[in-house]
Amino acid sequence: MRYSKVAIGLHWLIALMIIGLIIFGILMTNPDTPNRFALYQLHKSFGICVLILSVLRLIWRLGHKPPALPQGMKAWEVAAAKLTHVAFYVIMIGMPLLGWAMISSSETVIPTKIFNTLPWPDIPGLPRDKAISDIFKNLHHWIGKGTIVLILLHVGAALKHHIVNKDNVLARMLPFLRKSRL
Ligand code: HEM
Ligand code: HEM
Repeated sequence: MRYSKVAIGLHWLIALMIIGLIIFGILMTNPDTPNRFALYQLHKSFGICVLILSVLRLIWRLGHKPPALPQGMKAWEVAAAKLTHVAFYVIMIGMPLLGWAMISSSETVIPTKIFNTLPWPDIPGLPRDKAISDIFKNLHHWIGKGTIVLILLHVGAALKHHIVNKDNVLARMLPFLRKSRL
């Protein structure tokens, strides 16, 4: 048994966008990077897309059970996998919300236009106050670093399943690997 097409499609779409957002985030906050303003706008646009897709993915996930993990996995491995997945859902929704809250409370008002087309409102009711915006900025920064660690652990675990355990955990999320493993 593997993940459904919807779960697989959303997993890879969101994963690619989050990896891109981290790279854009690091580049655009470096003063030596050219065209930083355009990168900020792209970062905000892709970040809002991740928010919308992740809410849809969570709703889908609540109604669809994932395939069972291979038998023989230790209890702590199953717990670590579940914890990582829950942490990812919190990040996929929490990181964009923190970014959105950061710009909505910033004293510098820069309107957000998704992909330079669709105007996106600020979160209503948040005061424009540097101290408040800095709290969201710091959380966005540190949870961003935590996300990098979690992605490395997640990828490491997926590769370990594929290469060492030789089970179907990676193949059921990457169907083109399926022939050789299932
Ligand atoms: C999953 C979604 C997101 C991820 C993984 C992400 C990740 C990052 C990362 C890694 C940085 C560099 C942080 C630093 O070194 O301080 C950053 C900066 C930033 N992000 Fe995001 N971001 C996401 C969504 C958003 C959204 C939706 C917005 C706004 C609508 C946003 C606004 C910003 C801004 C304004 C900065 C610059 C902060 C500064 O000037 O220090 N982000 N983001
Ligand atoms: C930002 C990047 C990523 C995020 C946020 C992410 C998130 C997630 C989440 C939330 C799940 C659980 C799905 C569910 O049951 O609802 C999952 C499963 C999975 N992911 Fe990722 N993922 C990312 C990148 C990757 C990469 C690069 C790989 C490949 C090496 C990968 C391989 C897998 C596999 C094999 C599973 C199934 C694991 C299982 O059945 O327990 N992911 N991922």
